[in-house]
Amino acid sequence: MRLFLVPFLLLFLRLGLCLHAGIPRGMVVSQERLASEAGAQVLREGGSAVDAAVATAFALAVVHPAAGNLGGGGFLLSRSASGRSSFIDFREMAPAAAHPRMWLGEDGRYDGARHHGSLASVGVPGTVAGLREAWKREGRLPWARLLKPAIRLARDGFVLSENQAASLAAHLDEFKRHAPTLAQFSREGEALRKGDRLAQPDLAKTLARLAKDWTDFYRGRTARLMVLDMKAHGGLLTATDLRGYRPAIRETLKGSYRGVEILAAPPPSSGGQVLLEALNILEGYDLGGMGASSPAEVHLVAEALRRAFADRAQFLGDPDFNGGIPLSRLLSKDYAAQLRGTIDRERASASAPDRFAWPKDRPDTTHLSVIDRKGRAVSLTYTLEDSYGLKRIVPGAGFLLNNEMGDFNAGPGLTDATGLIGTAPNLAQPRKRPLSSMCPVILVKEGAVFMVSGSPGGRTIPATVLHTLLQVVDFGADAQAAVDAPRVHHQWLPDRIQVESSLPAATKAALQAMGHALKEVKKQGCAQVILVRNGRAEGAADARWPDSGAVAE
Ligand code: DON
Repeated sequence: MRLFLVPFLLLFLRLGLCLHAGIPRGMVVSQERLASEAGAQVLREGGSAVDAAVATAFALAVVHPAAGNLGGGGFLLSRSASGRSSFIDFREMAPAAAHPRMWLGEDGRYDGARHHGSLASVGVPGTVAGLREAWKREGRLPWARLLKPAIRLARDGFVLSENQAASLAAHLDEFKRHAPTLAQFSREGEALRKGDRLAQPDLAKTLARLAKDWTDFYRGRTARLMVLDMKAHGGLLTATDLRGYRPAIRETLKGSYRGVEILAAPPPSSGGQVLLEALNILEGYDLGGMGASSPAEVHLVAEALRRAFADRAQFLGDPDFNGGIPLSRLLSKDYAAQLRGTIDRERASASAPDRFAWPKDRPDTTHLSVIDRKGRAVSLTYTLEDSYGLKRIVPGAGFLLNNEMGDFNAGPGLTDATGLIGTAPNLAQPRKRPLSSMCPVILVKEGAVFMVSGSPGGRTIPATVLHTLLQVVDFGADAQAAVDAPRVHHQWLPDRIQVESSLPAATKAALQAMGHALKEVKKQGCAQVILVRNGRAEGAADARWPDSGAVAE
């Protein structure tokens, strides 16, 4: 071929891919239909997938206060129409006063209440800076437009669903420990009910300030309100910590599964490592032939997760503080083949508890998935750590603080049978990010986005995402069936399979006969999935949280 034709050919191929990647209507799926609607409206006005994700995330901070947030942090994975992926890490950072022994009392004993429930457990929030960074890179509509629905929902209020009212009522006693929080989330101390309107005027004012100037959160009035509260009640976070917060742009973790390319979360999340390592192991088996939720399939999924989680425990932490995380080895197909060699297809393996155990899982987090007409996609998971974070709003600012520092390990050497971990990679240090399990993913097939998925659920997150993906790739499920299917989870220690009660009884019995201990739960995670099939986006919201909503452009 004549050399001068090459650039034209490349351009043609690229345009071809873009056209191929397009879809007639975009889609937003999140844990609250009202927030998905805010994002879908942004798409209708010509906004990009990132615009829609930003609007949805701000709206979730109002209508899903259990996990949607301004005062927390998370990860945003996106893929452009031309195939460029980017990963924004807006995980909270430890304040400068953090140190490895900060969760020990004067007597040297571990102080769990301080670790998970005190103002010292508040990390420097990353959400506002992260959403701003995403908008700066890939936003199309004005920033202030994206905050508008959130401001309206906070100022005018919204009508509580049965589910929202029940969630607030379930936390009423915790809100009672902090008068401003109780005032925001109750009617003079009484639980709000289905049909009541929840308005959050202080939050509306904070959002309005951020619409004008996002730096207000880190150096303006909002920052001052946070610091005032910290100073008055013994928190660690300072004005300097807030000014020093920066989101990090990280290289997307990439893997493949049966010919599908997977874009996933790198450290400081372990989500991508666990997911990709487990998938590499599972690729060596004919799961499709075994059938979804069959004993053979669930056994292999559990064994794959067991091994991926053992590696997580040993190696993962904030990459800015742990230079030597051996990701390329852990994620190689050769290593997966070695691990497969250690799996007995008839019997459960044993997790060697001599390495170390896990701290308890704590809810809550939330995920949203977006795709726009051009085939640009966003997968965003963010969190306050527990449900409603520290259960404490910033007085005068109306948003909840995170207790994300609870994701750091307990203290040096503090590994014991009760579930504490004391390994070095994830000990608290100034400006370090606590290890996460959040697992936003985007799947790509033949050059175009094929699936977007993610979920809350602490350490169960990569397992939940794994299930949505196996359902589609191995069992040919549509988006809704992939979300609805029963889920299981194994995290190495404790050595048992967590199973949803919807898993067939015969499978549960067969797993026990293979030597697995089971722990039954009603539901695991809350996945929000988009699948592109036959050139159209199918959205599937997870009914495990009844308000979840998939809204088309
Ligand atoms: O980053 C993490 O992995 C945890 N802080 C997330 C907590 C969570 O997902 C609980 N959700 N239900």
